[in-house]
Amino acid sequence: MLTFVWAEDENGVIGKDGSLPWNLPNDMKFFKEVTLTGNVLMGRKTLESIPNPPLKNRINVVLSRNENFEVENIIVLHSKEDVLKYAEESDKPLHIIGGSDIFQLFSQDVDRLYKTLIHEEFEGDTVMSPIDYDAFELIEEREGVVDEKNIHAHTFQIYKRK
Ligand SMILES: NC(=O)c1ccc[n+]([C@@H]2O[C@H](COP(=O)([O-])OP(=O)(O)OC[C@H]3O[C@@H](n4cnc5c(N)ncnc54)[C@H](OP(=O)(O)O)[C@@H]3O)[C@@H](O)[C@H]2O)c1
Repeated sequence: MLTFVWAEDENGVIGKDGSLPWNLPNDMKFFKEVTLTGNVLMGRKTLESIPNPPLKNRINVVLSRNENFEVENIIVLHSKEDVLKYAEESDKPLHIIGGSDIFQLFSQDVDRLYKTLIHEEFEGDTVMSPIDYDAFELIEEREGVVDEKNIHAHTFQIYKRK
């Protein structure tokens, strides 16, 4: 099974200067809970945005066109076909965690969406790729708790392909 796990603002912004535009610990917690149920796939730039990769207790798979790209304790794949084969042979969900290029590449293949919608507008340079929501059914929705550490109103949504 393939899933997408991401957070976007009211305009679909997901990134700024190689990092996240917001600080929202509740979303990091949600991200961890979801992704710990399987393994993770990300683009090379998203890998570089993670402070101490790999993400622990999950196999980390990275997509890069660079055949010489190697990182310790990370599986590097070079094509969509390699990823689909890897996911098929795995008995765990492969959670696709971005960025934009990688979401675009798997938009027709993804089975489930784990989306955090942040109800604000941020400045950014990376935007979520288009998703055909008509092909998905919203199966769960929950308001995030706003407090002194989580100052941005947000909603967690889970969609399943129809
Ligand atoms: N809000 C969120 O949920 C979220 C999630 C993820 C990322 N982000 C943010 O988004 C930004 C990074 O995302 P991004 O969209 O710029 O980059 P990205 O998708 O993480 O990485 C792009 C790289 O992936 C590789 N790639 C892309 N398509 C490929 C293909 N078809 N085959 C093989 N390799 C391929 C290439 O690596 P090479 O150049 O090595 O060939 C490409 O440069 C950061 O700001 C990050 O913080 C936000």
